[in-house]
Amino acid sequence: MVSDGHGASLQSGKSSQPGKFITLEGTEGVGKTTNLEFIQSYLRAKGVPLCVTREPGGTPLAEQVRELLLAKRDETVDETAELLLIFAARAQHLNQVIQPALARGEWVLSDRFTDATYAYQGAGRGLSCEVIATLEQLVQGELRPDLTIVLDIDVATGLARASQRAALDRFELEAVEFFEAVRQGYQARVTANPDRYRVVDAGQDLSAVQSDLKLVLDQLLP
Ligand SMILES: Nc1ncnc2c1ncn2[C@@H]1O[C@H](COP(=O)(O)OP(=O)(O)OP(=O)(O)O)[C@@H](O)[C@H]1O
Ligand SMILES: [Mg+2]
Repeated sequence: MVSDGHGASLQSGKSSQPGKFITLEGTEGVGKTTNLEFIQSYLRAKGVPLCVTREPGGTPLAEQVRELLLAKRDETVDETAELLLIFAARAQHLNQVIQPALARGEWVLSDRFTDATYAYQGAGRGLSCEVIATLEQLVQGELRPDLTIVLDIDVATGLARASQRAALDRFELEAVEFFEAVRQGYQARVTANPDRYRVVDAGQDLSAVQSDLKLVLDQLLP
């Protein structure tokens, strides 16, 4: 099942505007990386010039910051230090990869972006949204995704999927309550700015999720 940010079922409607910036979001194990592959194949088959990337990461420097962020460590990671590392990586990613690709007329597809910061560091860690918004403005200026697809699933199912896949990283070791807050953080983002988001029920089997994704993408394609 797929709905827009207003909770309404999708209508057909197409745009001819090139160079879309699409981000894929959701809690742990919801299927972002799996479905990124699918979206990439679908858009490439339609002839869309595409830059596929991820956050944190997307450049050698930003990937090193990702490793710093995800590593399990004995030292407590200060929440503001975490936030600043994320935006440091984002500044590099935007300037080296995302903006040049958009300037070349490519579409950019990113596995996570700033909505994840609002959800994880804001709603999850309890950092101030105003502080995040200030950093967002500093790093991004007016740049925001054209479309953000939020894959939504109950937290327990997502964590079960993530734990079957690989060893858990520093974020995945958080308590269930943290991920409940993150999920609510994403829902609050959708509610506050419904036109930019599409919410897909990621609890469905993969083929149903991907049918819904096609519906969403077909709205963007010229
Ligand atoms: N709809 C689905 N039904 C069943 N299993 C799924 C579905 N979508 C993804 N999976 C499986 O769940 C696991 C997690 O998927 P994936 O790695 O794509 O999630 P993710 O959102 O990228 O996670 P993370 O937040 O940790 O990066 C994988 O083993 C994947 O095959
Ligand atoms: Mg992933």
